[in-house]
Amino acid sequence: ASTLGAQASQSGRYFGTAVAAGKLGDGVYTGILDREFNSVTAENEMKWDATERSRGSFTFGPADQIVNRATARGQRVRGHTLVWHSQLPGWVSSITDANTLRSVMNNHITTVANRYKGRIHSWDVVNEAFADGGSGQHRPSVFQNLLGNGFIEQAFRTARSADPAAKLCYNDYNIEDWNAAKTQGVYRMVRDFKSRGVPIDCVGLQAHFGTGGPPASFQTTLSNFAALGVDVQITELDIAQAPANAYANTVRACMNVARCTGVTVWGIRDSDSWRQGENPLLFDRSGNKKPAYQSTLTAMGGS
Ligand code: G3I
Repeated sequence: ASTLGAQASQSGRYFGTAVAAGKLGDGVYTGILDREFNSVTAENEMKWDATERSRGSFTFGPADQIVNRATARGQRVRGHTLVWHSQLPGWVSSITDANTLRSVMNNHITTVANRYKGRIHSWDVVNEAFADGGSGQHRPSVFQNLLGNGFIEQAFRTARSADPAAKLCYNDYNIEDWNAAKTQGVYRMVRDFKSRGVPIDCVGLQAHFGTGGPPASFQTTLSNFAALGVDVQITELDIAQAPANAYANTVRACMNVARCTGVTVWGIRDSDSWRQGENPLLFDRSGNKKPAYQSTLTAMGGS
């Protein structure tokens, strides 16, 4: 096939992008979106600071816009994200009582997941809970500090009750290199969850890469997670300067692993990227295909 989404779907995969509600009025943007992609992730609109700015008061306008638009066009939706230490409103991070925080977290998960029940392909239930560096442990956060290690399990159980049809993912960055302590920490958690029946269905590897692209062990990492009995997804791909071979290597690794079910790039045009100045995406600021576009399509077997 001649588009990313259509080619990915030939092997039962999806090819998605992050979208911003504020750009849905831009015809160049939506033209590429609807031509190339069959999955979307809200770049910011489903995060806690966007959906529950004050306790118990929920705002769904921009997220609804993204979900309704995608659903109407048959595009899948990845839900991003229910529990994250960042983009967390101050009223949550200043909670000091564990019981209060537990009920606030469960209510947030239940309310947001219930809003989109049946329409979300995969939820990033917990995002970026592991520390950088060599510890292999959770990072400090209000959730970790008050609820302890069990907060992640609690979040997954609550999400499963709220939307039993959605695949539930743990999502993180810098877990692409099999030899990294952070990767090992996440691996041990997923293995533990699977052995105890904690509901987890997928691991999202963000894949924000430097110019060198994925580490040599990337495909090994994907297969090792998959061997635990979860799907893996590349959830936020962008690569500094978008070298064609680095994109091809990333996508090929996914194609080579049966349980790697899809790839999402973190924006459409370079001008849409959070990494301003790095030109890390598949389309230039005018919306023209870059060399990495062609190499990505080719790596999936398209032309
Ligand atoms: O919406 C406000 C706007 O009202 C305000 O005027 C403006 C002033 O700075 O800020 C706007 O919010 C910004 C928001 O993006 C929407 O554009 C925030 O400042 C800015 O921090 C935020 O950045 C987002 C970032 O997450 C926040 O952590 C990026 O767009 C988004 O691409 C990025 O995405 C994350 C993933 O969720 C998780 N993994 C890493 C990835 C990259 O950081």
